Order: sequence, then C-alpha cells, then structure tokens
Amino acid sequence: MSTSSILPLKLDAVWFRGRADIPLIKDFSIELGAGPRTVIIGPNGAGKSLLLRLCHGLLEPSQGSVQWTAPNAAKAQAMVFQRPVMLRRSARANIDYALSLHHIPRAERADIIEDVLDKTGLSRHADTPARVLSFGEQQRLAIARAWALKPQVLFLDEPTASLDPSATHQIEELIDAIHGQGTKIVMTTHDLGQAKRLGDEVLFLHRGRLLEYAPADEFFAKPQNDLAQAFVKGELLWWKRGEGPRRDPKHSR
Ligand SMILES: Nc1ncnc2c1ncn2[C@@H]1O[C@H](COP(=O)(O)OP(=O)(O)OP(=O)(O)O)[C@@H](O)[C@H]1O
Ligand SMILES: [Mg+2]
Repeated sequence: MSTSSILPLKLDAVWFRGRADIPLIKDFSIELGAGPRTVIIGPNGAGKSLLLRLCHGLLEPSQGSVQWTAPNAAKAQAMVFQRPVMLRRSARANIDYALSLHHIPRAERADIIEDVLDKTGLSRHADTPARVLSFGEQQRLAIARAWALKPQVLFLDEPTASLDPSATHQIEELIDAIHGQGTKIVMTTHDLGQAKRLGDEVLFLHRGRLLEYAPADEFFAKPQNDLAQAFVKGELLWWKRGEGPRRDPKHSR
C-alpha cells in the first residue's frame, strides 16, 4: 500500500454511457475526502453500483475524469461486491491469493491472514472451502480479504443485501472496525436504517443523477431534494416523463 494519501477522490463532470449511448451516470462532480463514511443511496437502477465501479476504476467514464490524489491509487483501495466471487479454495487460501496479487511477501501473509480471520470471526473456517461457507460467512470472508490489504479506501456494494439481521449486524460492526482503523468507507445500501447507522455523509442518486450530497444527520432530518424526501419516507418514486428534477445537485457543506 502506498504511504501517501490517495484521497481526496475527485470526479469531474463524469458521464457514463451504456448501450446505444444511453447516459447512465450523468454529470457527476464530487470530491470524497478521507474520514467520513460515505453512503450512496437511491432506488434500483439509480446508478449506485456503476458509480462505485467508476470510482474503483473498473469502468472508464465516457466523459470527464476520476482522479485520485496520489499515484498508484489502485493498490490502496479494495472493493467488496454484492455477490463476492470466491476461488474454489479454502477461506485462508482466498485471502492468501489476494495478498499475493498485492505482492505481499509470503513470510508476512500467514500473520495477516490469521489476524483478519480472527477479526471477522472466521478462524474456525480457515480451512473450509470458501464456496461451502454460508452466505453471511462468505460476505465476512470477502470483507476479511479486502481488510487484509489494509486499503486506504474500501468500496462496498450492498454488503448486507439478503443477509438476516444478525449477519447484517456483524457486517456493520466489521465496517465500523475497518473505518476505525483509518480506512475510508464508500458503500451503497438499500437499507435506510443502515445508511443512518453507518453513514456520515449521504449521496442520493436517482436515474443516474446526483440529487443530493449532504451530511447524514442533515440529510435524514430534512432532505432538500423532493425525490430524496419521498425516498426517505419510503414513498415510491414516480417518474413522470419530462418532470425530472431540475435542480442542481446540492452539496450542503
Ligand atoms: N456495464 C454496464 N453497461 C451498460 N449498462 C449498465 C451497466 N451496468 C449497469 N447498467 C445499467 O445502468 C443502470 C444503473 O445500474 P446500477 O447497477 O448502477 O444501479 P443501482 O443503483 O446499483 O441499482 P440496484 O439498487 O438495483 O443495485 C441500470 O439501468 C443498469 O441496467
Ligand atoms: Mg447496485
């Protein structure tokens, strides 16, 4: 991991177009700084996962730029996907493989692996094939694998989707612990309770646009954007043709 800080991350007028040139991410200009846990919310198809992938460098913007503050930023960030892909190997070997990709010397890996297995409560599954672990355990393994890299920034896409309340609680505690060790958290969630519990700042996306960017307490107390307000109240977001929000994205700091 590089020692200089790769944050802030700056997106400048970023557009992403899909098939037939359809804009899916529209004109994003944001700056994500070190520290606050950033939670991205919005209805299905809003572009939350795309935004994470653009930030993490898995997709190239069609227009605009995604810039980190220090070079070699790729090495200093990790991502946990909604459906983590596990190798057909033990839990331990899955973490070992990730460390080897990051050129962590073999001699150092065993200690790191024991440590993250312990922190994620997976020590007794060290030798269990990753693919036979339960859904919740696999998600914890995915987090252990990312944590082992000691990233400056950790992206998580719906880390608790389809987990029960107890497994969700475990994952939230892990995210908190990782943040507590100085890692910037950028995550998406469908769970507004989770956004309140974990978020320090909120990005609200709708139809590929950033409609609001605000500190979490302000956002949940009173969203400025009408659609955000409806979303927070749990109301369905009707989209009438030609009646999309016209306000500029707000960043209330
Ligand atoms: N690589 C891609 N190329 C083209 N279109 C894509 C691509 N990835 C996603 N899309 C489309 O972009 C839109 C936004 O998708 P995205 O997965 O980012 O939404 P989301 O906010 O994460 O939704 P969900 O809450 O369902 O996870 C969707 O209409 C999707 O079909
Ligand atoms: Mg998604």
